[in-house]
Amino acid sequence: MTITASRLTKRFGDKAAVDGVDFEVGESEFFVLVGPSGCGKTTTLRMIAGLESIDDGELRMNSVVVNETRPRDRDIAMVFQDYAIFPHLSVHENIAYGLRSRRLASSVIRQRVPDAAATFRIEHLLRRKPRQLSGGERQRVALARALVRDAQAYLYDEPLSNLDAQLRHQAREDILALHQRQRKPTVYVTHDQSEAMSMADRMAVMRSGRIEQVGTPRELYENPVSTFVAYFIGTPSINLFQATLRAEVEDVWLEAPAFSLRLPPSRARALAGHVGGPITAGIRPEDLHPPRQAPFEVGEHNTMTARVDLVEPTTAGSTVYATMPGPAGDLDVAASFGARLPDRFVGQEVPLAVDLEKVHLFDAVTERSVLVDARAA
Ligand SMILES: Nc1ncnc2c1ncn2[C@@H]1O[C@H](COP(=O)(O)OP(=O)(O)O)[C@@H](O)[C@H]1O
Ligand SMILES: [Mg+2]
Repeated sequence: MTITASRLTKRFGDKAAVDGVDFEVGESEFFVLVGPSGCGKTTTLRMIAGLESIDDGELRMNSVVVNETRPRDRDIAMVFQDYAIFPHLSVHENIAYGLRSRRLASSVIRQRVPDAAATFRIEHLLRRKPRQLSGGERQRVALARALVRDAQAYLYDEPLSNLDAQLRHQAREDILALHQRQRKPTVYVTHDQSEAMSMADRMAVMRSGRIEQVGTPRELYENPVSTFVAYFIGTPSINLFQATLRAEVEDVWLEAPAFSLRLPPSRARALAGHVGGPITAGIRPEDLHPPRQAPFEVGEHNTMTARVDLVEPTTAGSTVYATMPGPAGDLDVAASFGARLPDRFVGQEVPLAVDLEKVHLFDAVTERSVLVDARAA
């Protein structure tokens, strides 16, 4: 099955919570809706489930419009954010609940419940009551209960937000492993971009009821259509600088009070209409390197200098937080190095080599990329 949303809209009063969103979820695709709190993720999911009426636009399953189809007839399983499991029922009965209400034979139930419990490693807890479980175990009961039955599609609303980091990683893997077995269209909602990036086949970044961009995690990371998407995706966040473009013979230079970078032809070509004007430059921390470790030739045309304020060790190396002088105070810049930067550099000025092939450029007024064609993206 596929799920298609066309101009899907939901209003509460005169405010559109979901404002004409378009996306398609393929046969066995794991599709993630991600965005800040209040951007319309839950409302979108509830419209797919049939729990919220659709004010405008169309929702199709395969090619059939299901706007008016009752939730039960859509045959969709959903894991809710505030996973309410029944406190008076055992783990076994909680998981069996959806199967009983669908009147499955008890022989089927006896077989499926332990299977689902095993998927989430709670098979030893089947006789317990929820109050005898940890938060992580209760979460896995909720997942098993929603996912025990074969549905046409699966929806998840921030199912891991109440778990601590380690359990969250484990649960992500469990959900993806289950998806590999089911191969059904899945829509997974989260506000956590790193969760989205690590789980999605494709993802949609939402903002104020609209979809800002849809694509694979890699496409959104490498070719964000707007400063919003660029800033939302990646940790630490992309460095954004106000700059101007200056043409000099064949070359285009990106000029800011603290640096001057010569853009490569791949970047310069798209910029004809912007020369002389203000531009927002985006440089990911991963694209700033210590000159001697840069995977490209380093010169004055691709180096900026910043004073190190803080060095934070990471698993891969270190994140360096530094500042450069700006017109209205210091400009912050973060750089992710593949190696440890020794503490003695704190307070020192260090050169940062910029991978110019990866510089992002946005119209300073519209905040849209001048490199990525939004229609093509
Ligand atoms: N039942 C409702 N009545 C009125 N406003 C609502 C209702 N549900 C959601 N909203 C509003 O719609 C917007 C989107 O909410 P929601 O879909 O829950 O966002 P998200 O899940 O992305 O945090 C928010 O501004 C929220 O306050
Ligand atoms: Mg929500």
